Amino acid sequence: MAFSSMRGRRAVLTWILGSLAACSGTAVFSASGPEAPPDVATGRRLYLASCAGCHGVRGDASGEVAASLFPPPRDLTRGEFRFRSTASGTLPTRDDLARTIALGLPGSAMPGWGDVLNDSEIGSIVLFVETLSLRFAAEARRPEDVLLPADLTPLAATPELVARGAVLYQKMGCGECHGPQGRGDGQAAATARNSDGTPSHVFDFTYGVYKGGDTARDIYRTFVTGLDGAPMPAFDQSLPDQTDRWALVAYVQSLGRPRGLAFYLTERPTWREPMAAARPRSPQPLPVAAPVAAPAADAPRADGW
Ligand code: HEC
Ligand code: HEC
Repeated sequence: MAFSSMRGRRAVLTWILGSLAACSGTAVFSASGPEAPPDVATGRRLYLASCAGCHGVRGDASGEVAASLFPPPRDLTRGEFRFRSTASGTLPTRDDLARTIALGLPGSAMPGWGDVLNDSEIGSIVLFVETLSLRFAAEARRPEDVLLPADLTPLAATPELVARGAVLYQKMGCGECHGPQGRGDGQAAATARNSDGTPSHVFDFTYGVYKGGDTARDIYRTFVTGLDGAPMPAFDQSLPDQTDRWALVAYVQSLGRPRGLAFYLTERPTWREPMAAARPRSPQPLPVAAPVAAPAADAPRADGW
């Protein structure tokens, strides 16, 4: 099952990061007990040890390994967050940020920290992340911006509900980006860009590894609130009916294929395909007798990959 292998990979990554930190003599995961209230100084210390290598000391995505990651680490100074329970264009709640930090964004380089940091430590990091963007000081968070009630109860995915979702998928234009079969290859996918100018990789539902979480509630949240900074719109206004929303959840979940080791060894996740297309692996064969010029170095890509 994809979820368990993601957890496995996350655990390995977390272990590697932890070992690297241990080698350099930095006390990363430590000190404050579970009862200690979150505080921004602890958050800063943990951020510098655990996050700055990717997100940069100032949060501007300039960490040492940032240039080698695709998708790149988020520039946290922009104050624009994809995974929120709040309306499009508004700040995420503290719980939203804590969830991202605890669970990570599966399918990207962003690791989950829930196994190595306790709730108080994650809460401290949230407080520090809020100092990296001026938006958190400038904008008030309003309770009415939270679009999701705490007690969201998914409807059972009956064949009728899935069929209703298939109709809505067409009607709401999901396929224009996500493709007619949900493979992430809709007509708008090739040119999709994020608000920071990086190429956007439209999600492939058959891949089934969701950054925002793969439960019915997670998927509901994703398309109701939209992913700010990515071309993925919010459908809270255009899809008000609860049954319709759960129907769409059931339909896109039905597109996921079971993933085993064979998938990871033989198939490329579709978010890699545009890169493969941009940098062909085998150059065109040259005639043997012709003088062969030294191969031109790969031109650097605008996105730094
Ligand atoms: C190995 C590199 C790496 C490390 C370490 C890392 N991140 Fe990330 N992070 C990423 C990447 C890559 C993304 C963007 C993923 C995407 O857009 O698909 C991201 C995205 C995020 C986001 C944006 C979520 C949203 O809703 O848009 C937040 C917040 C974040 N990281 C916080 C942290 C914090 C806090 C830490 C340390 C506890 C951390 N990250 C450690 C790579 C990393
Ligand atoms: C204008 C293009 C566009 C349209 C229309 C669109 N999406 Fe998306 N969607 C995206 C992009 C791009 C992403 C990936 C964003 C990222 O990871 O940075 C995405 C991601 C998602 C994800 C999240 C996957 C994850 O990693 O957690 C879900 C769920 C989703 N879309 C559902 C829908 C549904 C349902 C509809 C129709 C009601 C829809 N989308 C319409 C562009 C679009």
